[in-house]
Amino acid sequence: MKILVVGLGYVGITTALYFADKGYEVLCLDKDNDKIKKIQNGESPIYEPCVEELIKKNKTNIITNISKKEAYHQADVIFITVGTPQDEKGNANLSFIYDVIKDVIEFVNKDCTIVIKSTVPVGTCDNIEKIIKTNLNRNINIDIVSNPEFLAQGNAINDTFNPSRIIIGTENDRSKNVMSELYKGTNSEKVFMDRRSSELVKYASNCFLALKLSYINEIANISELLGVNIENVVKGMSYDSRIGKEFLKCGVGFGGSCFPKDTNALINISKNVGYNSELLNSIITSNEKQRLILLNKAKKIFESFKNKKIAILGLAFKPNTDDIRESPALKNIKYLVDEEANIYAYDPKAMENCKKIYPNLNYCINIEDAIKDADLCMIFTEWNEIKKFQCNKYKELMKNPIVLDGRNCYDVAEMERIGIRYDSIGRKRN
Ligand code: UGA
Repeated sequence: MKILVVGLGYVGITTALYFADKGYEVLCLDKDNDKIKKIQNGESPIYEPCVEELIKKNKTNIITNISKKEAYHQADVIFITVGTPQDEKGNANLSFIYDVIKDVIEFVNKDCTIVIKSTVPVGTCDNIEKIIKTNLNRNINIDIVSNPEFLAQGNAINDTFNPSRIIIGTENDRSKNVMSELYKGTNSEKVFMDRRSSELVKYASNCFLALKLSYINEIANISELLGVNIENVVKGMSYDSRIGKEFLKCGVGFGGSCFPKDTNALINISKNVGYNSELLNSIITSNEKQRLILLNKAKKIFESFKNKKIAILGLAFKPNTDDIRESPALKNIKYLVDEEANIYAYDPKAMENCKKIYPNLNYCINIEDAIKDADLCMIFTEWNEIKKFQCNKYKELMKNPIVLDGRNCYDVAEMERIGIRYDSIGRKRN
């Protein structure tokens, strides 16, 4: 079987590498030529551990020098892994998916299976099937399968090679057999169901995780007011296996390209069938509020931010990625820029991406450079480099040693001992 992967973002490149590593010949298409060139040079098109090594290891199985027409002619299985960003109304924008379907209709000339890995609203596979049936006038069988992806950025290779589960939504035995063959030999459970259920599994999973985060953030906010330490509360909760200990780290709210987008999309999917989910709506409102929590703490300390030197540590939406999409740091930066603060920002990997949005911030070479003479330091991402930073340097280098930590990187008592005014999330202030 020859596999074609269309769209080489986080999902596409890791899918391509997974099958190439299993010995399949994988044809790759992306409209961004820079990505293709990078892969051809043995480089990763995304910032993600292990991707480059696997591209080098599997270079004979990863085929990028192929025309669109030839790729669609040769493919037995087509994985669609293009983005489905949020549109202005909060729906998933499916235009990239439908562009690929146009190419399928134009070029595919033999039986094949199309696998939708992109996150798509319930019913999208059915709709794709209808469009193909209506517009394809060749006598071939094209099956549509839903196979959502559950990888988290920063752990993409591990999540793809050892997924928690493989959800496969099919409507006939032919495509079910193809998928069984493709995922033969995996240690992960293969869970077969109908396509619509499979499409909803993805949204229900992401929104549940978003809900869990918003819940613990709310409990953290309450803990702080009660003088209780959220870390003790989480520890105590985590012994209950129904609750678990994962995904209970409170902070400045969730970001990234998935949770905010998918929660909004599920709200709209529900509305379209006449259901207004107050719970889903509250995830968004709670998270919006949480993302401004450091700013609100800062407002209690400073009457105005005008001409204040503010160090921003961490721009990425989480550590180990250069991705700044929906990053809590950006929300706060926007406000501070409007207030004419002087921002000195540092992030180990995400500064280049941030420069595209805020070219005029002062980008620093390291943490020391950012905090030197600062009136205030705000921490938005728990990079190891930030967590391991020697805290006494805040005292030594800052004009006012005031640290607002949105990721609970440091020990409260230690900061107090050093003489730093330190406030974090759901813990005692000093
Ligand atoms: C998320 C899901 O975890 C994946 O399962 C899913 O496949 C992916 O979305 C997707 O739909 O493609 P990702 O957005 O890469 O993955 O990042 P996460 O690690 O889930 O983090 C999301 C946000 O939650 C980050 O801002 C992170 O800082 C925050 N977070 C995470 C917390 O605040 N506390 C935690 O305990 C965990």
